[in-house]
Amino acid sequence: MNGPTGMQGLEMKVCVVGLGTIGTPVLRYINEHGFQVYGYDLVERSIGEIETFTNLGEVPKCAVYVIAVSSNAVEDVCKKVSSRNKDSFVSIESTVKVGTCRKISENYGLRNLVHCPHRYWVEKSTNHGVKQLRVIGAINEESLIKGLDFYRSLEVPLHACPSIEVAEMCKIVENAYRFVQIAFAEELRRICEAKDIDFDELRKACNTKWNTEILEARKGIMGSCLPKDIGYLKLLADDTPLIEGAILTDKKYQKWIKLFCS
Ligand SMILES: NC(=O)c1ccc[n+]([C@@H]2O[C@H](COP(=O)([O-])OP(=O)(O)OC[C@H]3O[C@@H](n4cnc5c(N)ncnc54)[C@H](O)[C@@H]3O)[C@@H](O)[C@H]2O)c1
Repeated sequence: MNGPTGMQGLEMKVCVVGLGTIGTPVLRYINEHGFQVYGYDLVERSIGEIETFTNLGEVPKCAVYVIAVSSNAVEDVCKKVSSRNKDSFVSIESTVKVGTCRKISENYGLRNLVHCPHRYWVEKSTNHGVKQLRVIGAINEESLIKGLDFYRSLEVPLHACPSIEVAEMCKIVENAYRFVQIAFAEELRRICEAKDIDFDELRKACNTKWNTEILEARKGIMGSCLPKDIGYLKLLADDTPLIEGAILTDKKYQKWIKLFCS
């Protein structure tokens, strides 16, 4: 276990806001690294010995707030954090639309703000959990220095982005990329079915090439993250034929799989 070494001059009390799939392991992880950590969620959550609250006003004043709520609640909780302490260091770890973090900083006067989104994979959280190579972007140089310092104390390796918008877009592009790759596999599977060609054998054959990786086509793109994030990417431009095609492909595939393969 390592004690907190960075963020000199700041009292090292940390509050994790949002204690769901992401926030709970984040809270535990920060606790294991020697910080005085508290959790806050709208819903009552009991997480071992760690103190948790359902009212932000009752959480002891913290130097650091780590935001891990659902994407659509990020602005609301940042507003609450800012009304407690505008000088606190805020790291938005939730996935957000591009432009959200700077807008929040400007609207609510948060002066020390970074975005450090997750690449968390629940089923493989040992290698793809809180500690893995992540990106970070900041609203200004000072915040970036604080952010690098904070995550160094947590031993989280980081790729520093030149702007907070690059970090925001990076996260949604990663998920949109995955979405498009899966949609391509889904379309191939339907083509194979129409032509009476074994899709699994086709994949095996294609994937022998050094730069080809055709993914599996299962039941369609499930969960909330991939559809949400490709939707965020689509918002950035009027003309997005590939993205729209991928979304439509997955919709058709889901209908098809229900009709013919259930
Ligand atoms: N689950 C994943 O594998 C994963 C991976 C990468 C990124 N993300 C991103 O992380 C963020 C959180 O995802 P999650 O899967 O942990 O969601 P989740 O639904 O499991 O947890 C969200 C938590 O936030 C709380 N919450 C919602 N509104 C709140 C408010 N106003 N005040 C206080 N608490 C509030 C909810 O009660 C809940 O406990 C999302 O932006 C998501 O896109 C998730």
